[in-house]
Amino acid sequence: MRYQFRTLSRRGLMTEMLGLAGVSLLPSPLLAASSASAAAAPIVLESQETPFVLPGCSAPSTLWSYKAGWPVEVRLKRGQMSHLLLRNQLKDHTSIHWHGVRVPLAMDGVPYITQDPVKTGDEFLYSFAPPDPGTFFFHPHCMTAEALGRGLAGVLVVEDPREDGLFDQDHTLAVKDWRVGQDGAYQAFVTDRGAARAGTFGSRRSINGGSPPVITVAPGTRLRLRLLNLDVTRIMTLEATGAAVAVIATDGNACPPFPVTGWRLGPAMRVDLALTAPTKAGTKVLIQDSWGQEPFTLATVVTEGVARRRDNRPLILPAAELPEPDLSDAQVFPLSLQAGVSDPALDAWLKDNRFGDEALCRSDKLFWAINGKAWPAMDMDKRPPPLAELKSGRTYVAEIANHTQHPHPVHLHGHTFRVESSSRGPTRRQWVDTVLAAPDERVRIAFVAGEPGDWMLHCHIIEHQETGMMGYIRVT
Ligand code: C2O
Ligand code: CU
Repeated sequence: MRYQFRTLSRRGLMTEMLGLAGVSLLPSPLLAASSASAAAAPIVLESQETPFVLPGCSAPSTLWSYKAGWPVEVRLKRGQMSHLLLRNQLKDHTSIHWHGVRVPLAMDGVPYITQDPVKTGDEFLYSFAPPDPGTFFFHPHCMTAEALGRGLAGVLVVEDPREDGLFDQDHTLAVKDWRVGQDGAYQAFVTDRGAARAGTFGSRRSINGGSPPVITVAPGTRLRLRLLNLDVTRIMTLEATGAAVAVIATDGNACPPFPVTGWRLGPAMRVDLALTAPTKAGTKVLIQDSWGQEPFTLATVVTEGVARRRDNRPLILPAAELPEPDLSDAQVFPLSLQAGVSDPALDAWLKDNRFGDEALCRSDKLFWAINGKAWPAMDMDKRPPPLAELKSGRTYVAEIANHTQHPHPVHLHGHTFRVESSSRGPTRRQWVDTVLAAPDERVRIAFVAGEPGDWMLHCHIIEHQETGMMGYIRVT
């Protein structure tokens, strides 16, 4: 293998984490239990198969999850060093990428770029102190169409004591579609037809793996709803009826509140919503997706019982604290999203090469490109040059131009960026890690280049990512 990383045995990892070099170790469950004083015990995330009955199915599907059931939700504290131990019990290799979290490069979870893939039966210890509070998620970064198709993702909430007491209730709404039949069996995760267009849609929608929840609360309850689009294909347009519902954070980052109506949420994007439940008992508030023909209700809030004591504090989060781009000294670089690639050599190579165990995905097609370059995701040696070479600490503006007929949620690893402008009209200059670019739209994003290294940049419609719309920026 060309790309070598420092890998430690299981014993080595635990020893290193606990600062116990040379001390003989107990098997890790015992160790975790007995070593609380040496270091905080790691949160164990065991990638595994788990039987789970999805909405509308008569039999369980075999989900991939980080625990029995779906989804797992991990809560960390802002700024606190946290240890998360991935233990791979799946038959495929895997990794964990902490989507949207500004982690050190070595913790970014991209096989061959930041670490070796974690093989069946192996472990990898992720250690980082999340710098920003908010609503994030995590998922593998190899075999992604299948792994995410089977559900391998988890919700990550980073808590901040400055938010304590602001809300009476905090609910997670993880939206995901599944490509399963009524018998629970999977349908193909990737289709050429879908991959070359808007993606292959699931056949069953779910919220937190089940039917859309009905949340019953006392009138006047202050609610925070963390809405995550964990689907690999679906884009939603959010609406709310029955009460004023505000977006208070985009991709986890606090923003001045604005009405949710019309907000578009592509794959991997999140919003935190805030509302005060109406004062009249028996009132219904609907949170809906109106992207399709029929509005789909994602969640219903119903008031019942005696009203809570009135709390007039505004539903606003403490402002996000992120590196401020210096636009007076910014360099602009293009990110041109394109359909099709004309690279006969690459095409020929793809036809002749079979997938080995080291493959990063199993698609052998190229339908998309960025700046004229496509990355056949299955092979690291065919990696194109970086999309841009940036200097750490400097401000950059990327102009994302979508020259295709489909929207693309573009995600940059390791950086939170600000949307500066769009050819579609005024923007809210929101801080995000993923931005949706509509057909023919030009979006300008600004950010301060972070830690030196190669940071992935790709479409989060996973079939697009795996068929060419993937690259990386190099920070030196
Ligand atoms: Cu959520 Cu590179 O991805
Ligand atoms: Cu795309």
